[in-house]
Amino acid sequence: MKVTGARFVGAAATPGSEPPAGPPEVALAGRSNVGKSSLLNALLGRRGLARTSRTPGRTRQLNFFEVNERFRLVDLPGYGFAVGPEADRLAWGPLVEGYLRDRPTLRGVVVIVEAGRGLEAEEDQLLEYLAALRRPVAVVATKMDKLRQAEVRRALDAFRHRLGDAVPLVAFSARTGEGRDALWRLVIGWTRA
Ligand code: GTP
Ligand code: MG
Repeated sequence: MKVTGARFVGAAATPGSEPPAGPPEVALAGRSNVGKSSLLNALLGRRGLARTSRTPGRTRQLNFFEVNERFRLVDLPGYGFAVGPEADRLAWGPLVEGYLRDRPTLRGVVVIVEAGRGLEAEEDQLLEYLAALRRPVAVVATKMDKLRQAEVRRALDAFRHRLGDAVPLVAFSARTGEGRDALWRLVIGWTRA
């Protein structure tokens, strides 16, 4: 996938403040600090487009990026341990859940999981929620570069075992570029007219 144009088109910090629906969208979801923004930058080949950080929970809003004037990638706030479970659950409730439920142009959701951690209760809940909404999903196991060679197969087998055959799984690393082409194929498949 050749990225000829990538631009920030807007953000939403409260329900209803999203940029008007336009081209098809693919959302990037995952717990705080999992590497959502890094994945977006790696996909687009633009290092600083989505803000990344070492401080969990820095992305507090939905950020919309338009690619090649054809589709959008939406960087969601992280769920999980950010600023205390309560604060995060509130942040996820109306804003992100509303977006996932109601956005007419949302074509698919990429659930990003740290390869070394695997799927935990929050991921199961998110996948169930998306299945109930009938949203197409894929799971990305990221930070693959942090696994030792001997851990790679075990980790991927565990994902596959939990997900079954119906959910696409991509092994990814923002650091090495592993999985970039496979993830682009999914995004392009979802956003094709
Ligand atoms: P929030 O927006 O705060 O929820 O975080 P995020 O999910 O957007 O994560 P972000 O991209 O900011 O990355 C968090 C940390 O993980 C940073 O220190 C990144 O450098 C690191 N990181 C992200 N992707 C990778 C990867 O593929 N490999 C390694 N080794 N580190 C990564
Ligand atoms: Mg982020």
